[in-house]
Amino acid sequence: MKIYPLLKPLLFKIDPETAHRAAIRALAAGVVPSQPHLAHGPLNIRVSGLDFRHPIGLAAGFDKNAEAAVPLFAQGFAAVECGTVTPRPQMGNPKPRMFRLAEDEAVINRLGFNNEGLDALRRRLQTAQGKLAQVRAHGGVLGINIGKNKDSEDAVADYVTMLQGVAEYADYVTVNISSPNTPGLRDMQAGSALSELLDAVCGAREKLPRRVPLWLKVAPDLTDEQVAAMVETLSAYPLDALIVSNTTISRSETLRSAHKAEQGGLSGKPLFTLSTDRLKLFYRLTDGKIPLVGVGGVASAEDAYGKIRSGASLVQLYSALAYQGFGLVTDIRRGLASALERDGFTSISQAIGVDAS
Ligand SMILES: Cc1cc2nc3c(=O)[nH]c(=O)nc-3n(C[C@H](O)[C@H](O)[C@H](O)COP(=O)(O)O)c2cc1C
Repeated sequence: MKIYPLLKPLLFKIDPETAHRAAIRALAAGVVPSQPHLAHGPLNIRVSGLDFRHPIGLAAGFDKNAEAAVPLFAQGFAAVECGTVTPRPQMGNPKPRMFRLAEDEAVINRLGFNNEGLDALRRRLQTAQGKLAQVRAHGGVLGINIGKNKDSEDAVADYVTMLQGVAEYADYVTVNISSPNTPGLRDMQAGSALSELLDAVCGAREKLPRRVPLWLKVAPDLTDEQVAAMVETLSAYPLDALIVSNTTISRSETLRSAHKAEQGGLSGKPLFTLSTDRLKLFYRLTDGKIPLVGVGGVASAEDAYGKIRSGASLVQLYSALAYQGFGLVTDIRRGLASALERDGFTSISQAIGVDAS
């Protein structure tokens, strides 16, 4: 029996950030029932040197401080991306800063990288090492998403510090330069700022004892020209995957909720079309040379399949969990297996990008 439909009316009575805290606490306390164990051979996929049991991962921002990383794998995810974490702890923006757009099945957040900082993350992951080894033995992949402090005077140094600090705990590290709630962050997606950042993080990665896959997360608000310029710059760097995309600062005409004019990044259903369109463009311009991770508005198996057909090797989600609970992960895994079979594909990799042109 699914318990989330029973819990949801209660959770929706409290403010979203409090409800989210309650979810993290419940997961960490081990009181959230696990999703059933599924074996789906055709859903296995290898991306940036890592084996994923299936393509569905948890997007960054849900478990910023890795408080529930281990229990989250029991909710059916093949990968969990913790963070964004910054070198020093920071409070983020004043509350309220997270809004449910229930009529639109969307969320607006302007959290502003509230997190406990690198030292706290390292301590927590060190404590969880034994359990994380078990998760890995069952094929779980742990990503860590890194950012810069709001008041940092040297953004590039922040990313290098973070990469060096988390590398020993991460299966991959995501460089996040696309959150809309840290002033100036998105400017690092272009021109010399992007090259300087990538020179530094790729250089720092070379000196690590183990080669950690480096992923880059981009915004959906890039124009065609900006995407083309970015692809040109990226071609000079050994990045292992691109995540398309973060939240949008745009507001679709169709939004109905009273909170639609709140400042911040919009995620959930209204982000699907825009982020999938950018995904297709990245796929076309990169000629499939760099794996893409499709994120934005995934709320069903058909959505996840749509991301894959648009060029994604992997899919992540977050906002839809607030509306459907973790049962969604199981539904998507089952639905994806059926969709592949229906369309005559024997593995996920055959479906990647078939609709991208
Ligand atoms: C409340 C909230 C907090 C988020 N925090 C982060 C973050 O810290 N770092 C990041 O890279 N993305 C963050 N995101 C963006 C998500 O990882 C994802 O890219 C975006 O929400 C689109 O996916 P969705 O429509 O499935 O939610 C956050 C999203 C939400 C809703």
